[in-house]
Parts: sequence; C-alpha cells; structure tokens
Amino acid sequence: MIPFIDLASQQARIRDKIDHNLATVLDHGAYIMGPEVLAIEARLAKAAGAKHCISCSSGTDALILALLAQGLRPGQGVIVPSFTFAASAEVMPVLGAIPVFSEVDPTTFNLDPACLGEAVEAAQEAGIDIVGIIGVGLFGQPADYAAIGAFAAENGLWVIDDAAQSFGASWNNVPVGQLGDLTCTSFFPAKPLGCYGDGGAVFTDDDDKAELMRSCRIHGMGNTKYENIRIGMTARLDTMQAAILDAKLDIFEDELTRRQQVADRYAALLGDLVEIPVLATAATSSWAQYTVKLPKGADRDQIAAAMQAHDVPTAIYYPVPMHQQPPYRHFPVAGGDLPVTSDLCARVLALPMHPYLDAPVQAQIADALAMAITQEGVAKIEA
Ligand SMILES: Cc1ncc(COP(=O)(O)O)c(C=O)c1O
Repeated sequence: MIPFIDLASQQARIRDKIDHNLATVLDHGAYIMGPEVLAIEARLAKAAGAKHCISCSSGTDALILALLAQGLRPGQGVIVPSFTFAASAEVMPVLGAIPVFSEVDPTTFNLDPACLGEAVEAAQEAGIDIVGIIGVGLFGQPADYAAIGAFAAENGLWVIDDAAQSFGASWNNVPVGQLGDLTCTSFFPAKPLGCYGDGGAVFTDDDDKAELMRSCRIHGMGNTKYENIRIGMTARLDTMQAAILDAKLDIFEDELTRRQQVADRYAALLGDLVEIPVLATAATSSWAQYTVKLPKGADRDQIAAAMQAHDVPTAIYYPVPMHQQPPYRHFPVAGGDLPVTSDLCARVLALPMHPYLDAPVQAQIADALAMAITQEGVAKIEA
C-alpha cells in the first residue's frame, strides 16, 4: 500500500537530531516547560514573523486560548466555516459561545468573504451578537484575510486564523502567523509541521494577549507558580515535543518546497480528470492535503474502493458539514443553507500527500484514479 503520509522517510532524515534532542531532555529532566519549549517558541515566532509564539498542548487548545485572549463570553457568536474540522467550531460551545456557520468558496474551500454579511444577519435573527470570525486555512491555503479583515474592521469584529493546516503558507508574501489578530496552529503528527504527539501554538503581536495566554495555559498563573490570577487550564506543550519540533523545523522550508513540487506534478497529471485544487493568486499553500473534486454524481465510495484495490489510500475531509452534525444543528447558518459546503462534502477526495512522494508513485496514483473513474462510469452505463 502506498502511504497516505510518510512520516518514516522524514524521520530517517532527522533521526540523529531527534535522538540527540530527546537524550538532552532525558538528561536535564525538565519535562514541563523545559528550555526547549522557550527555544522552539522563539524559532517559531521568527518563522511566522510574529512577536510572540505561545506554544500549547494542541491546536484545539490554541483556539481556546485565543478565544480567552479575545474575551469571548457565553452567548456571543463567532462566524466559522461549516466546511472544516470539528475543532474550529467546537471551541465556541466549549466556552458557552455560539458558532455561526458560513459558506465557503467552491474553488479555494475557504470562507467566502461575500457571505459574511448573511452570517451576521442569521445571527441577528437568532438574537446573537457576533464578536469575531474564525477563518480556516483549509488543506494548507490561507483564507482571504484581506477581504475578511476588511469586513471585520467595518463591523468591529476580531479575526482568528485557524492555521492548523496552513502553517508555513502565506498571503501576499505575508506569512501565516500575521494574517489574523491571532493565529492558531496544530502540531498533530499529520500536520505539515507535526510533532510526535499533540501540540499547538498561538501567534500574536499583542503583548497583553500573549501574557494572558501564557498565564491561561498554566491554570491562570500569576508571577509565581501558586498565584492564580485568572481561570485557566492545563495546556502546555511538552518539552519532549518541543525537542522533536526543533529537529522538524530544520527541514520545514525544504519540505514546503517539496510539497509544492508534489502539488505541481499532481496538477499536471490530474488536471483533465478531476477538478484539482486552486490557489488564489495571493496565496501559497503548505499543502497539508491534496484534495480533488470528483465529477458531479460520481460514486465516491466506489472510486475510493477501486483505488484501494490498486494500493492507493484516499481520505474524505470532510464527509459531513459541521452545521449538519447532530450537536451543531441548532446553531445559526448563513442564508439558512450552505449549498457549496454540501456539494464539497459530497465530492471531495484527498489523495496521498507528503514531501517524499516521488513522480513514479504519483503516476501510479493518477493511473489508479483514472481507472477508478472509468470503471465507475462503465458500471453506471451498465446499470
Ligand atoms: C482546521 C483545524 N483546526 C483545528 C484542529 C485541531 O488541532 P488539534 O488536533 O491539534 O487539536 C485541526 C486538526 O486536527 C484542524 O485541522
């Protein structure tokens, strides 16, 4: 079976440094908030061009810390796309607040700035005060934060960039980390920059918010350990994970270049077969996923099964819109319905994607997809 992602090839490249870094942590024994944590925060802040990086225990906790920093209160509404991973929307109800689901653009898969007004109207009809927007850089491409930011400024809203998938990308040459008021990312192992467990980070230029999040990730700590000046949580990045990220960050730029090459080769191979992902002119992508749109009406399950039979794994991100998941069905939806989101959920298929995918294997994947689509077509005509 072709690997969907290939962490083993990556590990082989940096294994010596990982072994060395982990041995250093085992020797000094500072497993919580050890020197590696502060060191990786400094490196990540520099990479993102942000003043502060607040590392934490996951991308989900990064979003919660960011919402605490924005002072989100129970009952307030936050606009979020419905075509995303659960965490982008889940963090609002966790804090007693309300996700208001909005539509995405059919080509970039990201929040459609033109629909934000409808989201505000849907919230108003439900008597909910919108205070902010969480945009998501889905599959690695940042959302259009120029347009989202302009809408936010007009309406007095803040913007959080959920960059769990898009760390390393940019918009108009501005790196992810500076596109929203706060930027959150995840170091889940499968992410473009992943550790070997859970991890995440928030980026900001705001000194007060940075201090608040540093306090909140350690139980609302004050100047000393047992001084608790606010309600917080346990949301620290483990020293071991920081040590692993240090080795991974060394090769991250090179891996981003390789991911772009993989995406370019896919585009050349698949452009006539399916709808391939499109980058906005201003965007670069970290290519967390390579997601194609199958032809309308295609039997996706059958295509995925046929590809599996040819040793090509696929995945569906995401089969069900968030606003149709049972715990979220009662939250407001822009325009009452999200047809683009529903269409994407029915048609998307993600192909193997990682920096170590070579041309012959990509040709094999493209052949399997072509065969699966043709077989499916034949089966339909026969039926
Ligand atoms: C868009 C998005 N937001 C948030 C998260 C949450 O990150 P984590 O799994 O590290 O909590 C993820 C990843 O899993 C994600 O893809």
